Amino acid sequence: MAESTERMERLFFEVFEPLPRQGPGSRSSAKRARDLCAELPPSPAVLDLGCGAGAQTFHLADLTTGTITAIDNHAPNIERLRAEVTERGLGEWIHPLVADIGKPEHEPASFDLIWSEGALYNIGIEEALRLYHPVIKPGSYFAFTEAVWRKKDPPPEVKAAFEDYAGMGSARDVLAKIKASDFSLVDHFTLPYEDWWGDFYTPMERRIEELRGKYVGDAEALAALDEIAREPEMHRRHSDYYGYEFFVVRRD
Ligand SMILES: C[S@@+](CC[C@H](N)C(=O)[O-])C[C@H]1O[C@@H](n2cnc3c(N)ncnc32)[C@H](O)[C@@H]1O
Repeated sequence: MAESTERMERLFFEVFEPLPRQGPGSRSSAKRARDLCAELPPSPAVLDLGCGAGAQTFHLADLTTGTITAIDNHAPNIERLRAEVTERGLGEWIHPLVADIGKPEHEPASFDLIWSEGALYNIGIEEALRLYHPVIKPGSYFAFTEAVWRKKDPPPEVKAAFEDYAGMGSARDVLAKIKASDFSLVDHFTLPYEDWWGDFYTPMERRIEELRGKYVGDAEALAALDEIAREPEMHRRHSDYYGYEFFVVRRD
């Protein structure tokens, strides 16, 4: 990796790693999705895919009474989650693991609920539904958020920002993928505007300001921070073009 790309990546993690969340979401949206899983057993086995530093993992621990396997392939996220799990005395219930969500190695039919906030785009929804179908018990739930277009013809800057979200479509496109899978839709809803700001963009902008202070006089770092700052700025101007949708589906 070129030196400046490596530096950009380090700065990216320096901004994102300490944030309460690394994507949009909230406890109230998690609760709304959890409530859609009406027939969960009393102590469900839960799998949290792409858990990041575990914001939604702790919500899930609050909203269910079972065990949660939380996986992410970025080791510092898992270290931070492990430390917080220990600090909160939840080691018996939450099991953080460094693993690749694209290569599940779980026992067949071992989970009552699979959860994923803002991470499935890394493998694609169709692939996620295919890969995790054997792992989830028949009649059990898969709840996930996914970035979707809300309006056609987004401005070029918005289009460019979602370049990494291969195959990103509208909520209707995701519904078509669910229909073509071996899962049935329970329901879906759009994350509210506050879910982008409360625990995500507001602390991100604060963190960027802090790092602007740390890197005063370092033109390369400041330019990289300006680049990262464009994401929340873009949301202020163009959030009508894109959003995150929570989908809850059930294995047939
Ligand atoms: C946008 S963040 C969302 C994190 C967390 N769910 C949240 O909402 O705060 C996406 C997460 O997916 C993880 N991730 C990306 N690709 C992955 C993969 N192939 N296997 C496991 N985790 C992955 C990243 O490390 C990151 O923590």
